[in-house]
Parts: sequence; C-alpha cells; structure tokens
Amino acid sequence: MAVKVAPSLLSADFSRLADEIKRVEENGADWIHLDIMDGNFVPAITIGPVVVKALRRHTKLLMDAHLMVGEPEEHIGSFTEAGVNLVTVQAEATAHLDRTLRKIRESGAKAGVALNPATPPAVLEYVWPLLDLVLVMSVNPGAGGQEFIPAILPKIRTVAEQIRSRKLATELQVDGGVNRENAPAIIEAGATVLVAGSAIFKAENGMALIREINGAGG
Ligand code: DX5
Ligand code: ZN
Repeated sequence: MAVKVAPSLLSADFSRLADEIKRVEENGADWIHLDIMDGNFVPAITIGPVVVKALRRHTKLLMDAHLMVGEPEEHIGSFTEAGVNLVTVQAEATAHLDRTLRKIRESGAKAGVALNPATPPAVLEYVWPLLDLVLVMSVNPGAGGQEFIPAILPKIRTVAEQIRSRKLATELQVDGGVNRENAPAIIEAGATVLVAGSAIFKAENGMALIREINGAGG
C-alpha cells in the first residue's frame, strides 16, 4: 500500500491558501492537513472553522483537522460543519477521550487521536475500536519547521505493531519534522500517512517530495 502525503498548510503562504492547496493537489497530495491552534493548548493561534469552510470549496481531497486546542470536544461540530472529513484531538487535551471520539464519529467525521512525544501509546488501549487514525507527533506541537525527534521511531513501530496485531485499518500518521532524509525510516517504521509542512512549502524541490513519498511503493 502506498503511503499517503498530507501537506500541512501551516508552512504555506497564508495570504493565498486556496492557491497553495491547488499547488499541492497538482503535485499529488492525498490529504490536506490543517493545524488548528488556540493559544491555549499551544501558545500559537492559527485558523478556525470560518477559514476551513472557505477552503473546503477549493478541494475535494480529504481535509484532516489536527486540533491542538484545549477541550477539543467543544469544537468538533464547528469543524465538521465546516467540512473537515477527519478530526484528530490531542489525547492530552481531553478529559474524556472515549466520549470525544464517539462525538467525532457521531458528527459524521472520522476520528483520530494525536500523541505528544512524551505521551505513551498505552492511552489508546481501550479506545482502539473508535480510532480511524493515530497521529504520532514527532515534534512538540506548536510550530512548523522543528526538528524530527529520532526517539519517536520506536514509538511509531510500537503503534504500527499494535494496529497490525489487532488487524485494524487504523491509519498511522506521523507529523513533525518529516523531510526527504528521514521519510524512508518513518515509512519503514510503519507510518501510513506522512504530514510535512516546511519540507514541502519551504524547501527546495518541496513539491516533488510529495510524489517521492507516495509514488514510491506504488
Ligand atoms: C506542529 C504541527 C505540524 C507541523 C508540521 O505543531 O502539528 O503539522 O506544522 O510542519 P513541519 O513539517 O514543518 O514540522
Ligand atoms: Zn499537525
């Protein structure tokens, strides 16, 4: 199975997001990754449902909202109404993970959980049937352009093995510091969706990286 690429718009030109979506789409992007930050769970503030709704008209690709917000359960409806197909919440940000995941699915979207670098995969143990995606963070959330934390590779392997042994179709997304150099090791560890922001929008030959990754395995 080919690995999917989800460009993170966080490193795109925010004054022309629709054009940036078109550009990654033409270069083979599979999903569009939206980094939602609230100035609370992380210090930065990015975009909300109003902007997401406007972007929805510009692509048919799956839109994946990575909510780096406190009490994400309060914002699920506004993002699914804005048209996102998948909502990922940070495990650390919600007190009632099981309920939050059910709420995402009830709102008609796929459900994902993101794990900060220091959060063990054990938090997933009792919610596997509710998970369409696990997002393993390979940087601490809050900004694009940070360096991949190599100690996360064994964690990716652990989560991949858990998905395999349970025979689940859960996607394993890796986000943070992904680039041309480390992508092969991340794929080898078992990732099925790679998020990349600065390596696509700010690096030389960034657009080519999309097909280098998702065109590799056929
Ligand atoms: C980090 C975000 C990531 C990040 C990806 O808080 O969740 O999506 O912006 O950007 P790069 O690929 O530049 O690390
Ligand atoms: Zn993200």
